[in-house]
Amino acid sequence: MSTFNVKVRGAAELRIALRPLQISDAGDIFDIWSDPEVMRFYDIAPLVAIDQAQQLVAGMVQDLVEAKGVRWAILLTESNRLIGTCGFMLNHNFHSATLGFELARRYWRQGLMREALDAAIDHAYREWDINRIQTTTNLDNQASSGLLRKLGFVEEGVMRQWGYWQSAFHDVRLFSLIRADRVQSDRLAADA
Ligand SMILES: CC(C)(COP(=O)(O)OP(=O)(O)OC[C@H]1O[C@@H](n2cnc3c(N)ncnc32)[C@H](O)[C@@H]1OP(=O)(O)O)[C@@H](O)C(=O)NCCC(=O)NCCS
Repeated sequence: MSTFNVKVRGAAELRIALRPLQISDAGDIFDIWSDPEVMRFYDIAPLVAIDQAQQLVAGMVQDLVEAKGVRWAILLTESNRLIGTCGFMLNHNFHSATLGFELARRYWRQGLMREALDAAIDHAYREWDINRIQTTTNLDNQASSGLLRKLGFVEEGVMRQWGYWQSAFHDVRLFSLIRADRVQSDRLAADA
């Protein structure tokens, strides 16, 4: 795990940049994570106080210090504005990572998260010894499922009553991408 700073491939054409979250981002993070629509499928309720954002961001910064994971701020290159986050929790022994992501609502459906995750996944496979990337989505989260499929993730099935939050058990869809999937899709893109 040599580097956590993303060098975005083809950066000149990209609308976004990634850098690790920092404590000073807590205000921007609060704005995004207090939106009930953004948090609709999350296992935590929308934030109601800025100190909740400070605590969550501090935890993510600490994960990075301990090399347990990285959460990047997604910035618009034209304005440097923070519009969302994405990142991985790492399982070094298994050579695997769990992906998470969300974007401020006004930026949805513009291809921005696809750009961000493409850069993040590219980074994980180029810089780290990662083989499997996995993530779960709520069964009703069409946006997340559609995005993951576009990125080449394979749906492995439904994990029944996988989690418990907001006083209910929740089924989730399990998606994965393995290094060989990515190599194959890069080759297909290069041939196109
Ligand atoms: C999921 C989320 C990050 C998608 O970000 P986004 O930037 O809007 O996604 P993109 O514009 O890059 O979309 C890429 C593809 O994903 C799919 N997609 C995105 N939003 C969709 C929607 N509302 N309905 C169906 N498919 C959707 C489409 O296939 C889309 O490609 P297309 O626009 O060419 O059809 C965003 O909706 C979000 O932040 N949701 C709330 C948080 C969340 O659910 N996080 C994931 C938890 S697992």
